[in-house]
Amino acid sequence: MKFGILTASDRCAAGLAEDRSGPLIASLTAEYGETLRYVCVPDERETIAKTLTDLCDLGADVIFTTGGTGFAPRDVTPEATEDVIEKKVPGIPEAIRAQSLKITPRAMLSRATAGIRGKTLIINLPGSPKAVRESIAVVLPVLEHAVETMSGQTQSCAVGQ
Ligand code: MTE
Repeated sequence: MKFGILTASDRCAAGLAEDRSGPLIASLTAEYGETLRYVCVPDERETIAKTLTDLCDLGADVIFTTGGTGFAPRDVTPEATEDVIEKKVPGIPEAIRAQSLKITPRAMLSRATAGIRGKTLIINLPGSPKAVRESIAVVLPVLEHAVETMSGQTQSCAVGQ
């Protein structure tokens, strides 16, 4: 699989803080494929949306975003994601929140979304490395099947179940 990674953070994009979550996603997905591109952008809705479309055009199968899913005034990653997706995939954030709620009640404070644009699946993750680790573990086991299905390669979901 080919991955795109987008970190949304004003502080990291300005060089005022080190982004640990984007590189963590790259390392956690390495056994599943390659990172096509990793970008860190400020919490600007249009910039995030444009970067997501660029990553789709580049041929990413899956894009993970990290950060900007909470309640802070500048948190707009879910809105930017919804600007560019064509189909919603509510089951993914539902599953992430359900699993994460077993770890922390603060999981309900993530407004993360997920959806499909063309043949690319876009998944929002929360911002902290801890939250990234906990959240991505929920989706990694289903990604290959998701990508096969999006590309039309899988005829039957029942095979091997
Ligand atoms: N999900 C998991 N699995 N683990 C966490 O520690 N932190 C929560 C939540 N989701 C957390 C989590 C917190 S504290 C917040 S504020 C929201 O994600 C939003 O995070 P973000 O604004 O960095 O995207």
